[in-house]
Amino acid sequence: MLRPLKGIFNSADYPDLLVGLGEPDDAAAWRLPDGRALIVTTDFFTPVVDDPYDYGAIAAANALSDVYAMGGTPFLALNVAALPPDLPVEILSAILRGGADKAREAGVVIAGGHTIQDKEPKYGLIVLGFADPEKMLTKSGARPGDALVLTKPLGFGTTTTALKRSLADPQDVAEAVSWMKRLNKTAAELAVEFNLRAGTDVTGFSLLGHAWEMAEASRVGLRFHFERIPILQGALRYAAEWIFPGGSSDNRLYYGEHINFSPDLDEVSQMLLFDAQTSGGLLLAAPKDRLEAMLKRAAELEQPVWVIGEVIEGNQIEVLAR
Ligand code: CO
Ligand code: CO
Repeated sequence: MLRPLKGIFNSADYPDLLVGLGEPDDAAAWRLPDGRALIVTTDFFTPVVDDPYDYGAIAAANALSDVYAMGGTPFLALNVAALPPDLPVEILSAILRGGADKAREAGVVIAGGHTIQDKEPKYGLIVLGFADPEKMLTKSGARPGDALVLTKPLGFGTTTTALKRSLADPQDVAEAVSWMKRLNKTAAELAVEFNLRAGTDVTGFSLLGHAWEMAEASRVGLRFHFERIPILQGALRYAAEWIFPGGSSDNRLYYGEHINFSPDLDEVSQMLLFDAQTSGGLLLAAPKDRLEAMLKRAAELEQPVWVIGEVIEGNQIEVLAR
């Protein structure tokens, strides 16, 4: 996710800046003299899991995801880290190894980085990628009639919060970790192959927060069907105990006014759709005439996809029970 610095830089002064300075999007995009778009993004955060290797891998998958969310291919990254001076060297190297292995899986080289000392650990990447400007996915490309497709289940926020409070079942944590570590690479390739124009990744602002950004940027409404939205089994239990990260409550406060929930949906169900995700899946808008072929190709590539709603006219998000 990238927050533009409106009012400090003027987009008219930078004709080659394709994305940035306008509506918020996943990454900045700059048109190179050879016609390609250079994609630039950064993301880093405090530990979400106990295992340092997994933390590094999740942070890297999450940072790379903003390039995938633009329909781009990442190629180069730098580490950004803030670490306590007394952190055992094995833990430090496990974090960096987790990030490096994930980058290598993505075909990305980490060429170095910068580390400072800080009480609470923070780790992530600056990532560069390339995209075809004609095939870029942005938040503004959704059109009424498109199907809304999600590529990872929800429930990472509530599960990692249960872990922090020592209330989580290790099996639930392992399931969430394996999803968070998963690259959005194949999902992005699928979107580009089928020439989709709208996409974003579901991260801290939750499914509904990121969906709202897409609705606003595309000047459309969105309709979701709760029953079709994949949610981790463990997350359903933790949510029922009202175990949510602070970010989820913030999301409800901030985006709630744009969302129309069916009266059949209880508060827990509503809150699950505001759950702050780390390294979530892509939310894609797929034109109906390409949907069936795309789902078939996704199955061949063993890329999970769920059709969870559709783009409609209007300027609201509706959530139906089924
Ligand atoms: Co993003
Ligand atoms: Co981000």
